[in-house]
Order: sequence, then C-alpha cells, then structure tokens
Amino acid sequence: MVKSIEWVDGKVIMLDQSKLPFEVTYITCTDYLMVAEGIRKLRIRGAPAIGIAAAMGIALAAQDIHARNSAQFMKAIEPVFHEMLSTRPTAVNISWAVERLKKVIKSKRDESVSGLKQILIREAQSILDEDIAVNKAIGRWGAEFIKDGDTILTHCNAGSLATGGYGTATAPMLVARDQGKKIQVIADETRPVLQGARLTAWELMQENIPVTLITDSTAGSLLRRGEIDLVIVGTDRTARNGDVANKIGTYPLSVLSRENKVPFYVAAPFSSIDFSTASGDRIPIEERSPEEVTHILGIYPIAPKGVKARNIAFDVTPHKYVTAIITEKGAFKPTDIRKLSRQNVDLDSIRLKR
Ligand code: MRU
Repeated sequence: MVKSIEWVDGKVIMLDQSKLPFEVTYITCTDYLMVAEGIRKLRIRGAPAIGIAAAMGIALAAQDIHARNSAQFMKAIEPVFHEMLSTRPTAVNISWAVERLKKVIKSKRDESVSGLKQILIREAQSILDEDIAVNKAIGRWGAEFIKDGDTILTHCNAGSLATGGYGTATAPMLVARDQGKKIQVIADETRPVLQGARLTAWELMQENIPVTLITDSTAGSLLRRGEIDLVIVGTDRTARNGDVANKIGTYPLSVLSRENKVPFYVAAPFSSIDFSTASGDRIPIEERSPEEVTHILGIYPIAPKGVKARNIAFDVTPHKYVTAIITEKGAFKPTDIRKLSRQNVDLDSIRLKR
C-alpha cells in the first residue's frame, strides 16, 4: 500500500504526487506553511489525504507555539486553522479535520501547553489511522456490487494516494481482487492534472490489478458499447441531499452511465459527507490556474500563447444519477444520506443490498 503522508519524528513527510509516476520523491515538511503549500500545489491531494495533511500541519505548527497557558495557546493556533482552511475549498475534509482538532483542544482547557501539543499529534495520527480502517470497510461493502469478470470504470484518483491508505473508490476493487474475483479497471486520464493517468494507473499496476488508460472522452463510447459493468468514483463533498462534488468530468460520466444503464457508485467516507450543506449547488467549487489547461504538467504549452482558458477543478453530480453511495457503514440510496445524521437511525432498514 502506498503511503501518501506520515508523521515521523516531529515532521510531516509527504510523497510528492505532482512528480509521480516519473519520480518517487518525499518532501519533509518542517513547518505548517510547507504543508499548506503542498496542499495548494497538489503535492498531496485527494479529499481524505488533504484532511489528514491539514491535521498534521496544525499539529506541526502547535509544536512551535510558545504560550504560558491553554488560552494563549488557543489564540496562537487560530491563524493556523485559517491557513489550512484557505488552501482548497471543495473537499469538506479540511474543515472537518480543523473542527475535530478545535473540539479536542477546547475539551482539554485544563491541559498544560505541552499536553495540548501531544494531544494534537495523537489526534492527527488517529485521523490517519481511522481513515485506513474506514476505507477497508468501504471496500467490504463495495465489493458486494462487483462480480467476477467485471470491468470497472473510475475517474481521477480516489486510491491510496488520495487517502491515508487503501483508497475509497479503489477499496472495493482491492477487496474484490482479494476475494478471487477477476476484475479489470478502466482509468480515465482526468484532464488537466492527469490524476488517472499518473496516479490511478500507477497504483493499480503496483497492486497487479489489470488497468487500461483511456482519454476522458473515450468513456462514453465504452459505456455505449457495453464494455463497462459499473463505475466507481470518489467524492470531495457529499451534500445532505446526496448530490456529490468530485473531479471535473464526473458529472458527464454519471449522465452517460445512466443513459447506458450502467450503475454509478460513489465511495464516500463519513468524513466527506457534509450534512450542513443542503444540496450540491451550495458546494464551493475550486477554480485553478488556467495554466494547468494550457500547459501539460505546467511545462509543455499545448495552446496558443495568451489564449483564454478556464480550469474548473470539480463538478457536481446530482443525486438522481447516483445508484448508491458506499460508506463505511454500508451502501445507501443518495436520498437516504440525510437519515445517516440521525442518532437512532436503523441502518439495516436503509442499507442497499446487491
Ligand atoms: O484535485 P484532486 O486531485 O484533489 O481531486 C481528487 C478527487 O476528485 C477525488 O476523486 C476525491 O478527492 C476523492 S479521493 C478519495
């Protein structure tokens, strides 16, 4: 399993995904601004992974705070929360992680400053460890929808690299493979940053799962020809009504899947469900530098100099196109997602079975 991020000896080590698969290099972040820059520049990316990175960045910043008491400490750490929240807007995981760390230190007001510093390190590490366990559970539920011999289409990268490990969309594939099912994966290249070509293809090859790379615009033809059995993608934020924001190109894929009667699954850990957002229209959508569109990997120009370009990084898939949302607690109809925020919900009564 590829590790995207780790806390080692008081430093944050991240695998530089912007260089993959050509170079496997690690960045040692010695302060939180390096972590924030890593998130902005997609050195670490994928919703759960940037949530973990934000938490580790905060824990790192905490170690350098000189404060006499917990009140001073809380004041000093506030700008670090803001810095992390300003990195990328679409994935809810950053604000989820920030809120979780805020809550834990608020509940420990009587703790010494050095105690608070240790608590933040432990909490950031727990976020990572829990994420791996969550992904394995998503894998077990999701594998029920995969049959022996299936061809699965995926978009962008929702694999180990995008998480603490194991991935969300890739987890059902890994479990199905371990169950002895023969599967193959079709990976959309995912313009403009090529997460499918550079990252998903790389990861699945390491796992010995047969993978075939296609251009994004090939997906519709394969769906129409009956060459795809199911689609599984990740999500950056799932709204209360079951709408999902994910990498640009996910929405057209969902419409083409419906048109061709191919089930369209979204793998969504609870940490990426935003119960406070009513619908997908309210999810903030990141727009990145046009240079990612006019240049391949920021290096090779592919358009006339000075041409206007737009780079909308995510789109919203309305819940009506989503067959099921696969979480660590089971797979659910998107319209049942709102019920999951209730304390006493009977999960068995709303869980989808194959
Ligand atoms: O811009 P990225 O590479 O961070 O976009 C990532 C995605 O869109 C993933 O599908 C999503 O974050 C889910 S990762 C488990």
